[in-house]
Amino acid sequence: MIIGVPKEIKTREYRVGLVPAGVKAFTGAGHKVFIERGAGEGAGIADEEYVKAGGKLLKKADDIWQRAEMIIKVKEPIEPEYARIQNGQIIYTYFHLAAVPELAKVLVEKKVAAVAYETIQPDDGSLPLLKPMSEVAGKMSIQVGASSLEKAHGGKGILLGGVPGVKPARVAIIGGGVVGTCAAKVAVGMGAQVTILDISVNQLTYLDDIFQGKVTTLYSDTYNIANAVREADLVVGGVLIPGAKAPKLVSKELIGEMTKGSVVVDVAVDQGGCIETCKPTTHDNPTYEVSGVIHYCVANMPGAVPRTSTFALTNTTRPYGRKIADLGIVEAVKQDKALARGLNTYGGHVTYEAVARDLGYDYVNILDAVSGKAPKAGAAKVTRLRAAK
Ligand SMILES: NC(=O)c1ccc[n+]([C@@H]2O[C@H](COP(=O)([O-])OP(=O)(O)OC[C@H]3O[C@@H](n4cnc5c(N)ncnc54)[C@H](O)[C@@H]3O)[C@@H](O)[C@H]2O)c1
Repeated sequence: MIIGVPKEIKTREYRVGLVPAGVKAFTGAGHKVFIERGAGEGAGIADEEYVKAGGKLLKKADDIWQRAEMIIKVKEPIEPEYARIQNGQIIYTYFHLAAVPELAKVLVEKKVAAVAYETIQPDDGSLPLLKPMSEVAGKMSIQVGASSLEKAHGGKGILLGGVPGVKPARVAIIGGGVVGTCAAKVAVGMGAQVTILDISVNQLTYLDDIFQGKVTTLYSDTYNIANAVREADLVVGGVLIPGAKAPKLVSKELIGEMTKGSVVVDVAVDQGGCIETCKPTTHDNPTYEVSGVIHYCVANMPGAVPRTSTFALTNTTRPYGRKIADLGIVEAVKQDKALARGLNTYGGHVTYEAVARDLGYDYVNILDAVSGKAPKAGAAKVTRLRAAK
């Protein structure tokens, strides 16, 4: 298969869809890889490294898009890229399509096979291509929290781990999933006093086992949350209810009860945030203050460490990418249910139920779509629109 890796053009996106090791894996299996010149620059990967790995550099993004059967990216195509998308092309990237109806329209019209990283899902319900970014954000949450606690950054002026003879900081982590576990690892490592709250008793049991008494686990209810937040110097929000907005677990009033110069890092801000006073910020201006409490609410935290994020992401995307390249999209989807769940559009149909529902398309099962059993592309929607008139 011919694979194309364009440079990301979304503002401040420095990651890249494939690293040299990935290029080597694809070319070693007989595929051809075209890389746009400078595509890896933001992640600290030089063009020559791609060439050494067997990739071929092309100067213009247009050439990459025109020649590739499969485009491997990081972010969803943005407006200037729409015209570059080829009919019937495979695009393998994060899409979050429900939020971009205009892109969904282009993908349907051009009969693109859109394989979304965020919906690739094995039978156990996990989302393996989202996990590495949660790991990065979880670890970063303590780093940025510790820095915000410094006086010069508006914090109360305490060192997270303390020193002998002086108390360490108290960290409350709400949500003990991937973000919460990674945050706890760093906080414990720095010597903080850590409490993790979750509604999953199984997860609390797991955390209690792996941290062997180095963290306090608490069932997450309003009473325990209020006590933990009031006492904390740093609160990390890492809850997730799949497919839903994050529940507001820390009220404005509770923020007002924290001591001045405390810090909250709401990692769940990309799902609306679990702290009432949270609003999305950017890396350019990451913090603001409410009731004397410093808030860090950056919605794309991994963007701050594009090199780590690129390698972490591509470690998990590469095996599925190889499957698509080796078997072709139809056979790959038939053989791998997790990958099948990743396909959001195919052959002019929307093949992911939640996206179809949110954007008003008729949903077509992916196995029907790839087996040619689906109605003619677009017909169902047209009929429905006529009926609606
Ligand atoms: N800001 C960023 O840059 C960034 C990066 C990565 C992930 N995230 C976000 O971080 C959040 C957490 O992601 P994750 O991968 O850790 O999810 P996860 O599913 O691994 O963990 C979420 C945890 O929240 C727990 N939970 C649910 N309701 C709760 C409640 N009421 N009280 C306490 N815990 C509760 C769940 O039991 C689960 O253990 C998500 O919203 C994700 O989108 C943000």
